[in-house]
Amino acid sequence: MRAVAALQSRFPERAIAMTEAKRLAAEKALDYLEDDMIVGVGTGSTVAYFIDALGREKHRIAGAVSSSEQSTARLKSHGIDVLELNATGPLALYVDGADECDPHKCLIKGGGAALTREKIIAEASETFVCIIDPSKQVDVLGRFPLPVEVVPMARSLVAREILKATGGQPVWRDGVTTDNGNWILDIHGLSISDPVAMERELNQLPGVVSVGLFARRRADVVIVGGEPPTLL
Ligand code: 5RP
Repeated sequence: MRAVAALQSRFPERAIAMTEAKRLAAEKALDYLEDDMIVGVGTGSTVAYFIDALGREKHRIAGAVSSSEQSTARLKSHGIDVLELNATGPLALYVDGADECDPHKCLIKGGGAALTREKIIAEASETFVCIIDPSKQVDVLGRFPLPVEVVPMARSLVAREILKATGGQPVWRDGVTTDNGNWILDIHGLSISDPVAMERELNQLPGVVSVGLFARRRADVVIVGGEPPTLL
């Protein structure tokens, strides 16, 4: 949201088009809704539009599983039941945004610090529909700093290991604590030619809770907002 606000003051027309693209992508995701579904719901400004659209269809669904306190609050404000993943079991559909998306539907996520719960729900879901505006599309992931959630006591250890393993610059997202009580390192300066390998390597570092690369379990469908929305 901060990035959108900054853009809005510098390029008002472009920023307004970007928020409209997010809304159009979010509304298109309703095509994947089926009656009596429990829907997995991600986090972020694009997902906020999806939750608002879901609110209008709430009579059709059995509830939602939420990836963050932020999304939970918005779902509840629409009167949508928020259920525990442990109680629901596997989900048919997960809808979430992304910070970057490559042509293979591999993603960088975690700009909103919700990556761990997002990854859990994506894994538990049969179909992951990712909703983005066109600014999120890249040929190679890494322009957006890669978020990594870490156990607080391991922050500096993990940062040193990340530097060794990737050559990227880990920066502590100071002042941010995740819904799980952990911290975030954002890795700057990467060009991720093999997202599956990097995800695997970073996942193995002791102290890493999860990595914001969604490559092994990537999106099944990507909706890019526009008039009309396009599908990858
Ligand atoms: C949150 C995320 C979001 O999906 C990602 O940051 C995109 O957010 P937005 O829709 O606000 O651009 O991964 O952890």
